[in-house]
Formats: sequence, structure tokens, C-alpha cells
Amino acid sequence: MVINKIKLVEAAAAARANSVSPYSKFQVGAALLTQSGEIVSGANVESASYGLTCCAERVALFKALTEGLNSFAAIAVVAPARGGPMPCGACRQLLAEYAPEARVFVADSRDLKRIRQFTVRQLLPSAFVAVP
Ligand code: THU
Repeated sequence: MVINKIKLVEAAAAARANSVSPYSKFQVGAALLTQSGEIVSGANVESASYGLTCCAERVALFKALTEGLNSFAAIAVVAPARGGPMPCGACRQLLAEYAPEARVFVADSRDLKRIRQFTVRQLLPSAFVAVP
């Protein structure tokens, strides 16, 4: 799978438009690239009960998984954060479980051309994996 990181970052940036973030007003967009070349995007959704908020990364991941897509080459995350928004610990755990081979691209929405890249293992070494 050839990864077009600019296209993926642009999809994540576009997904910010559908962020539901009335409390923080911090719009985050994410876009997952499947191994078959499909892009599934998501944005953060907040709750009046703040702790129920779901990050953009997990929204995109849950959308994709529940559409039957389960093999991922990359994820891009975009928000107005210097250097790009780094996925939170909960999202790192889910990525380690469901997208362990994915490249993770992050970019500041004000400077989409500066893309930083990580592996999931760099973000969460020694991840917990349930032993069946
Ligand atoms: N958020 C994400 O969507 N992804 C991240 O990686 C970090 C934080 C959201 C959650 C909340 O809606 C807002 O950003 C502020 O924390």
C-alpha cells in the first residue's frame, strides 16, 4: 500500500468540520487509510458529561471497524496544536490493538504541510494485549 500522507492529512483536516466540540471548541479530525486504499474519517464528539467524550481517532477507528474494515496502513490526526496533536493514551491503546502496523501522521491544522510521523509502537511500547 502506497501511503499518500498529504491526501490523508487533508482528509483529517476536512473531517474537523464535523467535530462536535461545544465544550472545548477544539476541533480534531482523523482519517484512517485501510490496506485496500479506503479512507475513513472521524472527528471528536463531546458530551455534557465531559468524560464521555470520544476522540477523533477512536471515532474513525470505530466507524471503520464496524463497517467491516480491519486492516489499516495509516492514520492522520489534525488539530490546531503546535507540531500536530499527539493521540491520547486511550487512543494509543486502541491503535495498538486494531492498527498496530499503521503509520501515525500528525499535523497542525494551521500548517498542514509540516507532517510528523510515528509508528504505533513508538507511541505505545509494550502495549497491553489480552491473552485469550
Ligand atoms: N481529542 C481528540 O479528539 N484527539 C486527541 O488525540 C486528543 C484530544 C479531543 C477530545 C476533546 O474533545 C478535545 O480534543 C479536547 O481535549
